[in-house]
Amino acid sequence: MGHNVNVPPTLTTKMTARNVSVFYGPKQALKNVSIDVSRENVTAFIGPSGCGKSTFLRCFNRMNDTVASARVEGEIALDGHDIYAADMDVVQLRARVGMVFQKPNPFPKSIYENIAYGPRIHGLARSKADFDVIVESALKRAGLWDEVKDRLGESGTAMSGGQQQRLCIARAIAVDPEVILMDEPCSALDPIATAKIEELIDDLRGRYAIVIVTHNMQQAARVSQKTAFFHLGTMVEYGDTSTIFTNPVEARTKDYITGRYG
Ligand SMILES: Nc1ncnc2c1ncn2[C@@H]1O[C@H](COP(=O)(O)OP(=O)(O)OP(=O)(O)O)[C@@H](O)[C@H]1O
Ligand SMILES: [Mg+2]
Repeated sequence: MGHNVNVPPTLTTKMTARNVSVFYGPKQALKNVSIDVSRENVTAFIGPSGCGKSTFLRCFNRMNDTVASARVEGEIALDGHDIYAADMDVVQLRARVGMVFQKPNPFPKSIYENIAYGPRIHGLARSKADFDVIVESALKRAGLWDEVKDRLGESGTAMSGGQQQRLCIARAIAVDPEVILMDEPCSALDPIATAKIEELIDDLRGRYAIVIVTHNMQQAARVSQKTAFFHLGTMVEYGDTSTIFTNPVEARTKDYITGRYG
């Protein structure tokens, strides 16, 4: 990192990555990847296990900072501003670029407190009434309100897996993010809970820039408008989801989407 990002912000691009490489110790996990992340579309990252999808996703809110051996090179910008700049507040960044993980990870606190926690530490509300409004609207946007409105005091960890994952999405939404990163958010869920998350992603599209890592190609085809295919640490192909799945340019993409490896 270091030098300034020269990519001007555009109406349709929310985040840009330029020549991003990631190393774990001496081992290079991501090689020179560049992409524009759309503001109003859902972008899917697909590719075989170990190809670097999670590694790349974590660059967008500096989660790799928490991995001692990880080193990131290249440039990543949010609205044209280098997120690796010295004056970037990483706590603020992670509120603007939220993350939802593979395994739902609600805090061992009440449903209400799971949502109120972020707005409290970011000073987004003061009075109980203000917190109530934020909690209700985040739970509504996450499609969970009707299921939990009568038990907001119960523990978030006592919900079903699918509800816990929607709670985690509500928690990310509560701090009013601009981008939501999701790393295989449905892989621990049954088909019905998965369908609910996919519907939710579609509802949230347009309001937040969304990037989702998924192993499930049908899911990528259903929820995304843009798809990036990764293989062995490189981004092989990136384009409209419909094109990637029906008429890819690269032989490696075709082999993967037709199930020849991965
Ligand atoms: N913390 C880490 N320390 C060392 N190597 C790592 C670490 N995290 C990932 N790697 C390595 O980096 C490469 C990319 O891993 P990554 O988790 O990004 O792949 P992925 O595409 O998300 O795979 P999966 O689909 O299995 O989740 C792999 O070779 C992996 O072993
Ligand atoms: Mg992964």
